Amino acid sequence: MTGVQGFSSWRPAFARALYGPDGFYTGTRRPVSHYRTSPTASPRFAAAIARLLAAVDASLDRPPRLDVVDMGAGGGELLAGLAALAVPERWQLTAVDVLDRPDALPERVAWQPEPPERIVGVVVANEWLDNVPVEVVEQTAGGPRIIEVTRTGAERVGPLPDVEDERWLRRWWPLTRVGQRAEVGRDRDAAWAGLMGRLECGVAVAVDYPVVPASAPTGTLTGFRDGRQVPPVPDASTDLTAAVLFGSLVAARDSAAGPAGGPSGPGARRRPTPAAHGRHRPAGLSARARDGR
Ligand SMILES: C[S@@+](CC[C@H](N)C(=O)[O-])C[C@H]1O[C@@H](n2cnc3c(N)ncnc32)[C@H](O)[C@@H]1O
Repeated sequence: MTGVQGFSSWRPAFARALYGPDGFYTGTRRPVSHYRTSPTASPRFAAAIARLLAAVDASLDRPPRLDVVDMGAGGGELLAGLAALAVPERWQLTAVDVLDRPDALPERVAWQPEPPERIVGVVVANEWLDNVPVEVVEQTAGGPRIIEVTRTGAERVGPLPDVEDERWLRRWWPLTRVGQRAEVGRDRDAAWAGLMGRLECGVAVAVDYPVVPASAPTGTLTGFRDGRQVPPVPDASTDLTAAVLFGSLVAARDSAAGPAGGPSGPGARRRPTPAAHGRHRPAGLSARARDGR
């Protein structure tokens, strides 16, 4: 919610700026015009993913249909790259993004705003999670406080974090010194756990910037516009991105999977295999992600 002077906490400001009406990621805008990522930088990324797919396909005994889901597909470059490699027709290529379908996308690539309910195969999330909104909290002399921001980027110290955010901070990003900042990734954890709940069998790969809280005293939230790194201003003209805490993602996935890691939802028949998280960029998949960083 936005206050009378236009202040709100970062989480809703981030969400509005990227995904609200006329947001940065709304309609026909394409991320590729603001930065380069591995799929947009080189066809080698698609070729590397094709090798991973072939290995998973073989380990699943080449099922009649192998799902290949690109979560947060941007311009669809990864799946267009796979289509160009003439990968087997059994491989169902599905791009998931809130953006409109790009005109030039090959016909065999499906495009939808939500991931499939049930996935048997491979999920790739290349630089999706850093775009899921975070809350920003700063340690003050009076303890941790939410940071509030206006559309022009002016900030002020706000209220106490809520109980859930505080619990998350204590576990994942403890604040010890006045002026230190943390980014609460609870929405990101929930988004990842939700996606993993749909992976019935196979492998998930998240490639993103990792954060080590002890090495990020003022947090990682930043902006990108027209190929340059800029201050994070939630005015919808700028991409907003915060580095990913992979440990909390794994814990959220595990707790969503239920006790003893059993099937995670109605209709789940087999436990998903452990996800391969991009904590360190795997060799061969590591083309520098966004220019300017
Ligand atoms: C940084 S871009 C990455 C695009 C592409 N994966 C790449 O590496 O070039 C992140 C994308 O995630 C999409 N996105 C963010 N949250 C999403 C959601 N909840 N559902 C679908 N797409 C989402 C955005 O629209 C954006 O296109």
